[in-house]
Amino acid sequence: MRYLITGGAGFIGSTIVDKLLEDDINEVTVFDNFCSGKLSYIEKYLNNKRFKLIKGDLLDLSLIKESIKDHNFIFHFAANPDISKAMIETDLDLRLSIIATYNLLEAMRLNRIKKIVYSSGSGVYGDVGLTETPEDFGPLMPSSMYGACKLGSEAIISAFCNMFDMQSWIFRFANVIGKNQTHGVGFDFINKLKKEPKQLTILGDGTQSKSYIHVNDVIDAILFVAKKTNEIVNIYNVATDDYITVNEIASIVIKEMNLENVIFEYTGGKRGWKGDVPIVRFNLEKIHKLGWKSKYNSKEAVKRSIREMLNKEVVAKK
Ligand SMILES: NC(=O)c1ccc[n+]([C@@H]2O[C@H](COP(=O)([O-])OP(=O)(O)OC[C@H]3O[C@@H](n4cnc5c(N)ncnc54)[C@H](O)[C@@H]3O)[C@@H](O)[C@H]2O)c1
Repeated sequence: MRYLITGGAGFIGSTIVDKLLEDDINEVTVFDNFCSGKLSYIEKYLNNKRFKLIKGDLLDLSLIKESIKDHNFIFHFAANPDISKAMIETDLDLRLSIIATYNLLEAMRLNRIKKIVYSSGSGVYGDVGLTETPEDFGPLMPSSMYGACKLGSEAIISAFCNMFDMQSWIFRFANVIGKNQTHGVGFDFINKLKKEPKQLTILGDGTQSKSYIHVNDVIDAILFVAKKTNEIVNIYNVATDDYITVNEIASIVIKEMNLENVIFEYTGGKRGWKGDVPIVRFNLEKIHKLGWKSKYNSKEAVKRSIREMLNKEVVAKK
């Protein structure tokens, strides 16, 4: 198989590169503009004959059209990771999600490439409190440009699949965490506490409660679902069965960094930033019925990812 991974130098993308290259029959091309991705995540493959790196932007249609030739499966992970940035750059997600996704699909169509995996998220559901959202929940009313443009991208993928005989696997992830994180609450806390070990500023009131899933579980879910399903458009929620609060995450980080007597300061309000959804609940019946469950719960995933980011020893769960 010849895979092209947009955003392959980023957190989730680089983890799937590792996984795919474990198998001798796979060839992998990473297409990334390095706006948040890091060369250090993939540089070990630069001399590997089964690996190719293209530094490029999905907004460049002619480049992606050329780069995508001769591949048979696309993983589309490139996007703006910073939800709050749309407050000052309102067209950011429009370009980096919707236009970028359109360009990729158009490049696929012109090169007769049929299969795409897309990384969507809980943001498409909007702020619906404690409602456990199944994949067919509606009406979908996102509360951020990030969520709105994820939903728009899902819609364009669906349209291309139906009009041009393509096939897609759309995954709505919970918060994904793990070794190569480039952003996120645990990542943020570690960096803040390294600079100021006695005090931690927490965005919001710390009671925000969501599912946190380890990236290895996410990769496992993607490959499992893609193998087991064969609809034109396959949409799946991917999360743990439980939830954890931001305050609990702060306590885990402090313990893992061996710190004591850290004073918490809160910016206040229910949400971390405008567009943040403070409570996220997934309905996971569809993926459970298919036979998939996460290996790590939220607390285990947070602890493991913090240890990985701190370069501490981690013990694999059987
Ligand atoms: N991390 C999460 O919690 C989470 C949750 C749900 C969905 N997602 C989605 O999963 C995908 C990967 O997220 P991540 O956490 O690995 O983020 P990331 O920022 O680490 O990776 C995104 C990658 O895309 C690249 N990129 C961005 N715009 C590009 C463009 N126009 N052209 C080429 N490359 C571009 C970046 O340089 C980076 O390497 C994103 O689509 C994200 O929205 C992530």
